[in-house]
Amino acid sequence: MAKVLCTAAVLAVCLGVACAQPFAPGQGFLPSGNLRTSDFAGPYNISLLDTQYNEIKAGIAAKQNYSDLDIVHFLTNVECLEGQFDTWGTFGYGFLDNLTLGGPTPLGARAANLTEMTRPFMEEVALNEQGHALFTRQAGSTIPCPLVDFDGGFNAFMAAAFGLPEGTTVEDQFGSAYDPFLNDQNFVLSVLTLEELGATGNKGLAGLTGNPVLANGIAGLATSATAQATVQRMLLWQMRNFTVEPFGETVQQVFARVSALRDSLDGPQFDDQGIVNTDARTIAVPDSYVNIIPTDVRGITFSRTPQMNINILTLGNPDGVGVFFPNGLIGAISKPTGYNMTASGTDDFPSSPMVAFQESVEELGTIMDPLTAAGPYEVVGELDLTQSLTGPADNGTAATRGMVYTPSGSPNNANTSTVQVGTPGGQY
Ligand SMILES: *[C@@H]1O[C@H](CO)[C@@H](O)[C@H](O)[C@H]1NC(C)=O
Ligand SMILES: *[C@@H]1O[C@H](CO)[C@@H](O)[C@H](O)[C@H]1NC(C)=O
Ligand SMILES: *[C@@H]1O[C@H](CO)[C@@H](O)[C@H](O)[C@H]1NC(C)=O
Ligand SMILES: *[C@@H]1O[C@H](CO)[C@@H](O)[C@H](O)[C@H]1NC(C)=O
Ligand SMILES: *[C@@H]1O[C@H](CO)[C@@H](O)[C@H](O)[C@H]1NC(C)=O
Ligand SMILES: *[C@@H]1O[C@H](CO)[C@@H](O)[C@H](O)[C@H]1NC(C)=O
Ligand SMILES: *[C@@H]1O[C@H](CO)[C@@H](O)[C@H](O)[C@H]1NC(C)=O
Ligand SMILES: *[C@@H]1O[C@H](CO)[C@@H](O)[C@H](O)[C@H]1NC(C)=O
Repeated sequence: MAKVLCTAAVLAVCLGVACAQPFAPGQGFLPSGNLRTSDFAGPYNISLLDTQYNEIKAGIAAKQNYSDLDIVHFLTNVECLEGQFDTWGTFGYGFLDNLTLGGPTPLGARAANLTEMTRPFMEEVALNEQGHALFTRQAGSTIPCPLVDFDGGFNAFMAAAFGLPEGTTVEDQFGSAYDPFLNDQNFVLSVLTLEELGATGNKGLAGLTGNPVLANGIAGLATSATAQATVQRMLLWQMRNFTVEPFGETVQQVFARVSALRDSLDGPQFDDQGIVNTDARTIAVPDSYVNIIPTDVRGITFSRTPQMNINILTLGNPDGVGVFFPNGLIGAISKPTGYNMTASGTDDFPSSPMVAFQESVEELGTIMDPLTAAGPYEVVGELDLTQSLTGPADNGTAATRGMVYTPSGSPNNANTSTVQVGTPGGQY
């Protein structure tokens, strides 16, 4: 008990100091041996949390030599993109000067043509995003907002999402450019395209931040962005059959392309999903179910590193310049280098480089029906699915659920169902 009180007292002092100061370089989390929990009652095994473990390892690789302040500056870049897009589209004006700190007006800044069906939700989102930018300023960010390009960014992104050949624009192919502000569906779809990079990106940063106040704030950014994305998915679900011009495809189809493109640019793991589950690999809901809350099979949301997000936002340009950021990002974290890496040297796993893959539902088998007290009685899959099953249908063991454990193999193959960085039962 004395030990607990003492720890709390030390923490309170640290929090006071951290609150009073911007975050100085050098306060960050550093690779620290293996990731076993080792407090006064430890160590504990958390050996079934492969996805989380992989995400943290990717984050540690991404962290490299970046400080907490570098992370705050990175956040300013992405919140300036997202927040200015949402604010301009919803209100027809941009950030206050004390948020941009002299940054330029975005290219293509204008109001969106919204109906009352979406406007109130977009207003709340835009105000939230302004708050996120404010948070980065209060956390010590002094860089100006970078130049961002709404029309150029979304047109390049959509050209890639439709697989157009290099040099062919949306306008060349479809007769007119993509207007992200055209109507409810184009705007909400565009907002969500960026929102989920914030939701996953902020979650990814939360565990990599040394300062507890900053980590707490970034976790709040992640949950807020995830809540906003949920509202946006709900709106898109209601509009799923609306046509997205100039493509002549439905909201559901175009968003599936966006999701697939984001997933293809962030490294090997499957961590992006459409508004309807048409990808049975890694999803918590059965095929063709609505998917408003994208998660892994345990219902846990995904993480991305800054480098993954930079790679997505600049379509894989190795210099991190172009698409949404015509002059690149400002600050130390401005290149995608390492977007597909996971840290080595953080434990004693056998091979290097450590390439992490999420468990795939291909390997799990199809989950035929929602999990209820009545069943299903036979679910082929990984042990860790049982972690979320409690109650009368679950005797608490994989075997009694009819589950079959498929050992992780190596090397990884195209089905990406193996996990090199750990085995269930392993100690980390
Ligand atoms: C990390 O960055 C600091 C500041 O730029 C530098 O002094 C230090 O040498 C770097 N450390 C490594 C291991 O690169
Ligand atoms: C930002 O600037 C505006 C206008 O000058 C001012 O009203 C507002 O209080 C400022 N906000 C903060 C958080 O400083
Ligand atoms: C605004 O959007 C509505 C549909 O939501 C559409 O009917 C109308 O043509 C749009 N107005 C402009 C100026 O694009
Ligand atoms: C969308 O289209 C599908 C298939 O045509 C139809 O079943 C569904 O009712 C439509 N939903 C809405 C909201 O329009
Ligand atoms: C990571 O991406 C780079 C650039 O595309 C590629 O050269 C490298 O082989 C990838 N590494 C892994 C481990 O996939
Ligand atoms: C397993 O669960 C079933 C169904 O609830 C129950 O009948 C059975 O007794 C349980 N077995 C054990 C070993 O607890
Ligand atoms: C991937 O899985 C499918 C279906 O199980 C199988 O047909 C295919 O051969 C696998 N591909 C690889 C590269 O293992
Ligand atoms: C952790 O798991 C390993 C492998 O199953 C086991 O040998 C070890 O005793 C476990 N440690 C704890 C603290 O439970």
